[in-house]
Amino acid sequence: MPTPENIHPVFNQLLTRADKEKLLNQNARVIWLTGLSGAGKTTIARQFELALNKMGYLTQILDGDNVRTGINSNLGFTAEERYENVRRIAEVSKLFLNCGIICINSFISPTKSIRDMAKQIIGEEYFVEVYVNASLATCEKRDTKGLYKMAREGKIKNFTGIDAPFEPPENPDVEILTGNLSITDSVQVGLSYILPLISYKHI
Ligand code: ADX
Repeated sequence: MPTPENIHPVFNQLLTRADKEKLLNQNARVIWLTGLSGAGKTTIARQFELALNKMGYLTQILDGDNVRTGINSNLGFTAEERYENVRRIAEVSKLFLNCGIICINSFISPTKSIRDMAKQIIGEEYFVEVYVNASLATCEKRDTKGLYKMAREGKIKNFTGIDAPFEPPENPDVEILTGNLSITDSVQVGLSYILPLISYKHI
């Protein structure tokens, strides 16, 4: 998008991300949890945050259900609105990333193009794609929020997995099969991949 003539962004900051990572003793990343509603993204994100906090890492959670009541409260669930939802979140994540903070995001982010867009904004190197994978049947059986039932009854339109698409990631950095694993084991699978990436290497 062209920059308007009356906007003069300043990108050459005095302090770099590296300065802030050094202060925090961590490497910043955006941990991006994708998966169906009810797959366990929010639960895992919270457990990641608790575990990382205990180990001394500074984190920030961004979650679809919360963000959609605040900064994205004007967005619904059409393909365009989901794209805009994720675009804004990716931009917000980049601010945290540049501040040296580990951002943990749980968004359905249902299509490859949506996830690719987020990856593009954040930077491929810093984007960790975690596929929280539970089958539609499992998520529907759990139906923690009662939304699948409502979608089946036609009371909610464009519901992911019912009448809106979910394209599973083809090559995620980590896949967590929450249908077969306990919460503890699910969190462990993710952490064992994430920890080496965020642990600060003194140069
Ligand atoms: S995304 O597709 O734009 O990434 P996001 O993760 O922000 O979705 O929001 C998903 C959450 O919104 C779900 O966990 C669910 O609680 C709620 N929700 C309400 N309507 C829908 C819908 N039509 N499809 C999916 N989730 C919905």
